[in-house]
Amino acid sequence: MPWKRRPFSGRDIARALNIADLREIARRRLPGFVFEYIEGGAEDEVTLHDNRGALGRLRFVPPTLIDTSARHLRTSILGRPAEAPLVIAPTGLNGLLYRDGDLVLARAAARAGIPYTLSTVSTTRIEDVARQAGGRLWMQLYVVKERAVARDILQRAAASGYEALLFTSDANVFGNREWDQRGYRRPGKPTLRALLDTLRHPRWIMGVLGHGMPRFRNLEGFLPPSALTPMGASTVIPRLFDATICWDDLSWIRECWRGKLLIKGVLTVADAERAAALGCDGIVLSNHGGRQLDSCVAPIDVLAEIVRAVGARLPVLIDSGFRRGTDVLKALALGAQAVLLARAPLYGLIAGGEPGVERALTILKGEIDRALGQLGCNSVADLKAELVRRV
Ligand SMILES: Cc1cc2nc3c(=O)[nH]c(=O)nc-3n(C[C@H](O)[C@H](O)[C@H](O)COP(=O)(O)O)c2cc1C
Repeated sequence: MPWKRRPFSGRDIARALNIADLREIARRRLPGFVFEYIEGGAEDEVTLHDNRGALGRLRFVPPTLIDTSARHLRTSILGRPAEAPLVIAPTGLNGLLYRDGDLVLARAAARAGIPYTLSTVSTTRIEDVARQAGGRLWMQLYVVKERAVARDILQRAAASGYEALLFTSDANVFGNREWDQRGYRRPGKPTLRALLDTLRHPRWIMGVLGHGMPRFRNLEGFLPPSALTPMGASTVIPRLFDATICWDDLSWIRECWRGKLLIKGVLTVADAERAAALGCDGIVLSNHGGRQLDSCVAPIDVLAEIVRAVGARLPVLIDSGFRRGTDVLKALALGAQAVLLARAPLYGLIAGGEPGVERALTILKGEIDRALGQLGCNSVADLKAELVRRV
């Protein structure tokens, strides 16, 4: 009988050796339908899986016998120093995963010396994160039907000193996340099975729901109270998305927002060119972690051509599927300035709060450092496209 490796069965974040181990702890901590909210991709999850597959099809071709004893991870993101080429990506509803999830993530990012991006649909107010977490803060913007929401977010983020605005462009029509809906009889009404499953997670009930149902704090004043809780989310958020959003909205945002402006959801050279021409300060290649258009190309597969076209004019960042330090190094070698991480730090958050997020970031930094040395590099600036080959 061949020896088979089993999934990580421990509970101690200190014993988690990689992001997959943290994911296992997180999976056991949450009711299934809440975990599904994080995991789920759209439709057949072709894109979700291909984000990993595309990274897996890249291999390194390392030079040998190079002194890499002076290795470090420090770099520059949007012209400012960062301790690692990483950014925490915007994720909505973090307070449903862990109490004060946004604050916990933002604090861990600040301690790690990397930017944190707060979602429009966060469960903590823009001002509270700025006041209580500090560090480099970016604000994500969904331009929803009610344009006053965007105006409000822009003003509040500017007044609170957010360094950058990250406009999500791939959210004109809500993705068809079937797994995300299975736990509900009707929108907002969990099935009996989901409720029983929830009762088997008293720690989550006490830790999260015990302090009151998390709410979309930035949308108070725009939505009726019943629509502000996660239970209303499955009906409310899809309806907020606006099929009319277009480049005119980006021009308008550029006029209103004086800080750095990034557009997240670019996947074509033509759109990257357009973003540069409109005065964006950076682009994020993203397919929303496989949660929007299924069968969408993986960002890593279009990175090189987009960097070739606009890399000299504006920073190109990337997300979707990054779970290992080697994944990050592949993107940097192909010209990305930094990698945004969503699910990886969320697993840490659920598994162990702030120490859990720190563990996730420490694991990734350790992996980046080790692989950097094995690639004959002393810093991420030494990475070159020749180090990576598609197989
Ligand atoms: C649970 C969850 C919530 C998300 N919420 C948002 C959001 O509010 N705004 C946004 O622009 N992207 C959102 N995203 C997409 C992420 O910002 C990011 O593009 C993507 O998940 C990166 O892939 P990864 O999860 O494989 O790291 C969300 C992703 C997840 C997993």
